[in-house]
Amino acid sequence: MARKTSIQTKYSIIFFTTLVLVIGAFVAGLGTLRNEVLRNEAEAIADQVISFRAWVAGSGMVWVHKLVPGFPDFLAKTEDGHGGFFYGKNPALATRELSVIANKTSKRATFLVTSDDYRQAANKPDAFELQAIRTFKSNRGLKFTETYEEGIYRYARPIFVKKGCLKCHGDPEDAPPAVIQKYGDKKAFGYKVGDIRGIVSVKIPSIGWQKLLPILTNPIVIALVVLAFAINFLFTQRFIIRRLTRLTEDANAIARGKLSTTLDYTPPDRSNDEIDHAYHAVNLLKKSLIIVLKRSRGKK
Ligand code: HEC
Repeated sequence: MARKTSIQTKYSIIFFTTLVLVIGAFVAGLGTLRNEVLRNEAEAIADQVISFRAWVAGSGMVWVHKLVPGFPDFLAKTEDGHGGFFYGKNPALATRELSVIANKTSKRATFLVTSDDYRQAANKPDAFELQAIRTFKSNRGLKFTETYEEGIYRYARPIFVKKGCLKCHGDPEDAPPAVIQKYGDKKAFGYKVGDIRGIVSVKIPSIGWQKLLPILTNPIVIALVVLAFAINFLFTQRFIIRRLTRLTEDANAIARGKLSTTLDYTPPDRSNDEIDHAYHAVNLLKKSLIIVLKRSRGKK
């Protein structure tokens, strides 16, 4: 039969098992932290998009003096008094143009304002966005949805129809002629206040494990683990193993008849240490042995 392992070995096994469990907990925590970081980033972007739309909506339209290449759309046109024109861009249009610029220049996040009933081909939703719109329609209280797609974090937030939207998204009869002329009277009409009109959709490259794992292998983490092991190792050596070895030697000496052996320990009334209690028991055994031996000598 195999020999039982020493306390030191058993203790080391327990230590490393604990370490693996703690690392597991840490990795799970890192995953949650990563999600929190990405969601915060996406929320900040969605907030900015919504603020920008609100600014344009509050001002009615933004009027630009020039139609720069790539941004030819406008919903209204007025003479500037010098032979040129001002072109009016409504909130959705201005937001789309901002998104085109952001998506071209941004190092990380991109966004799109989209809908399942979209007027503008460039606003066409993809599978995640369609699913998000469906989810928001069936779960009205939901503030956002999120998912991971091949290394990309995806986030969506609902856009609700307010009274001011009805002019262009309610009955086509009420819509400005420019809207009908440009987009027809079929697309994105028939909404009521409170309906889900669409979503703000944000894409951010996810933080991969190749970026998260070095957090666990940085020199400070490794140094702390080594220190923790050293403290545990020294403790078991100094306070358990060395004393047990000495107790074994003392008990062996007594067993061999060396009754003058003194046991060095703190008595149980002043110690909660179990090894002290074991010492005390051996000491009592030694005293009993002395008494028994004296008696048996006396009888002779
Ligand atoms: C002045 C008319 C007008 C008003 C008012 C208006 N919209 Fe729009 N909306 C449009 C036009 C035009 C488009 C298409 C813009 C484009 O070409 O990108 C559009 C597009 C959108 C889109 C993008 C999806 C699509 O159809 O391409 C959303 C979402 C949207 N509007 C929501 C709203 C909400 C919410 C409100 C009220 C807060 C609102 N709109 C008010 C005219 C309007």
